[in-house]
Formats: sequence, structure tokens, C-alpha cells
Amino acid sequence: GKDGYRHYMDKELHEHPLVIGQTLRRMIDPATRRVVMPPLPFDLAAIPRATITACGSAFYAGLLGRHWLESEARLPVDVDVASELRYRDAPLSAGGLALLISQSGETADTLAALRALRAGGQHVLSVLNVPESSMARDSDMVLETVAGPEICVASTKAFTAQLSVLACLAIATGRARGTLSAEREQVLVQALLDLPGKAAELFDLRADIQHVAAIVADARDVLYLGRGAYFPVALEGALKLKEISYIHAEAYAAGEMKHGPIALIDRSVPVVAIAPSGRLFGKTASNLQEARARGGRLIAFTDAEGAAGLRGIAEALVVLPEADPFTAPILHSIAVQMLAYEVALLKGTDVDQPRNLAKSVTVE
Ligand code: M6R
Repeated sequence: GKDGYRHYMDKELHEHPLVIGQTLRRMIDPATRRVVMPPLPFDLAAIPRATITACGSAFYAGLLGRHWLESEARLPVDVDVASELRYRDAPLSAGGLALLISQSGETADTLAALRALRAGGQHVLSVLNVPESSMARDSDMVLETVAGPEICVASTKAFTAQLSVLACLAIATGRARGTLSAEREQVLVQALLDLPGKAAELFDLRADIQHVAAIVADARDVLYLGRGAYFPVALEGALKLKEISYIHAEAYAAGEMKHGPIALIDRSVPVVAIAPSGRLFGKTASNLQEARARGGRLIAFTDAEGAAGLRGIAEALVVLPEADPFTAPILHSIAVQMLAYEVALLKGTDVDQPRNLAKSVTVE
């Protein structure tokens, strides 16, 4: 049941801290504070490249997975949606890693992509929430997201569980490839262990998110912007808003704005920026300044340091707790999911069963 929550989505949003903790416990040894992967049927150190594929939110998790595998393990990674990958006839490296991501393990396109990648000689590793699914049966190895059943059609906790697994995989791969020092591993693992507590703090931001939701709910179109690890978060925020509030939302890499989408911006098109402090903050802030100069209403998800830089630009700020740049995107994805939920409440839509959507897309 809904345990007293109004919707499964609200219940599942509140399960983020628990689910992240449970998922990490499978892969982090609390005594040594190191990532311990279950034994893999292939050598992570010998993988020449990875091909990540998935659909919908799981695809966005894959984009963040690429970011971590590239930065921490220096592994070349391709990411594509399964419906494209399966027909793309992409050249694959011998002995490469196929990394499939799916909550249900039954998504038709992802399953077909899995089979194509296997036929192409790839080691098949799947990140799944249902360990007895069709995809599990066809994989060499499954890394389980311990999210429990996800009932709401819009994915929430399964997404952050996927991110938790992918972050651990990037650490393990970095260690195997010799790109990650023991000290750096300790920093990253500590950041992961801090996540459940920080995720729980996000529920204190509800009033701020409701304030932002009131601005978004009035719009017909909304633009989400983020750079680097926050671009996939922008994509996740925009998809969730579309799915449950039926408001048209598009996500762009912040640097792409001036290559077209800026033409859309006026007072009626709010811009939701995911822009915490960090290496790319200054770049994103100047893109936001440009949007502001065109009369755009700017909303920013940031942290305390970022808020100081955005105060004159943004009309509304949601200030998340400080977090290591490695894990901050996970917290921000919860925050943008919470925003979509609050907007849907204002719109009065059927949050758990949005029109035209199915929980598991088992036909092409
Ligand atoms: O079960 P899967 O993870 O393979 O499902 C993939 C997508 O269908 C799914 O993430 C979909 O985009 C959600 N409705 C997103 O909220």
C-alpha cells in the first residue's frame, strides 16, 4: 500500500535514502570503506571500452555512468538509447563491456540491444531492479539495484539506485585500471556513504520546491539546463515533468542554449537550472545571465556557494546541502523529481498512472 502517502510517487520519493543505503551496502565494505564488487566473469582491467544502453530514465542514469567511468576510470564509453543502438550496427571492440540498465529488466528495446551486444562479442553486465527478469537471464552478470517494487509509472528510487550502482562500478573500474588512488577511493566512498543522510535532508526543502512549482505550473513550456554531470539531471527533471504534469519541458546542455533554444526565452518560458558550485559553475552562471537578460524567469537548484553567485540572477533558488561533486548529481536528481511531483499536485493530474504510459514497455 501507500503507507499513508497520497501517491506511490510520494512514498517512493521518500524511499530514496533507504534504497540508496541498501544498494550501496551490497557493494561497499563498511570495515575497509572500499568498493567490493561481486566476482565478475570478466576482467575489468582488460575491458577496452564500454557501451551503455537503456531507455528513458535508465538512459539518463547511463549518461551519468559514462561521466563517472570516464572521469574516475578513464574508460572510453559510448551511451545510446536502446531503440537506436539495436539498429545502429555500431562497431564494437572485441571483449568490450555491454552495460545495460533497466528497472524492470523487461523493456523490449533494451532486451533486444542486450542480445545484439552479446552477439557482437561483448561481456554483458546488467544493472537491474528485478533479478529474475528476462534481461537477467540473458546477462553474464547482474548488479542489483535494491530499490524494491516501484509502482509509480514515473521512475524515482530505481533511478538513484541505478546511479549508486554505477558510481560503485566506476570506482571498481578505476581501481582495476589503476587510474584511481586509494586516497581518492576513500573520498568517493565517503561521499557515497554520506548520501542517504543528505537525501533525507532534501525533504526539508519542500516549501522552497513548492514555491518553484507554482512558477512552473503556470507555464506551457519549460527549459531545463545543466552542464557536465548536471546535464543528465536536467534531462531527468524535464522527462519527469512531462510525464506527470503534461507540461512541455526540454533539457539542454547549458552551453547549447545560445545555439538555438535561447530564441524561445521570454517571461512565459521558465528556465530551471541545475547549477551547484564547482568547476563548471562560472560557465553555467554566464549562460543563465544570458537567459535572464532575455527576460527569462530563472529558477536554480544549487548549493550555498552557488546560491551566493546566483542571487542577483535567479528569481527562486532551491539550496541543496553541500555534497562532494561526485555524488551531488544524485541529490539534485531527487530534487528535480520532487519538483515534478509538486507541479503535478498543482495540476491535479493522475500522478501514479499518467495518461498513455505503461510502467514496463515490453513492445517495441
Ligand atoms: O524498466 P526500464 O528501466 O527498462 O524502463 C525504462 C523506461 O521505460 C523508464 O525509465 C521510463 O522512461 C520511466 N517512465 C521514466 O520515469
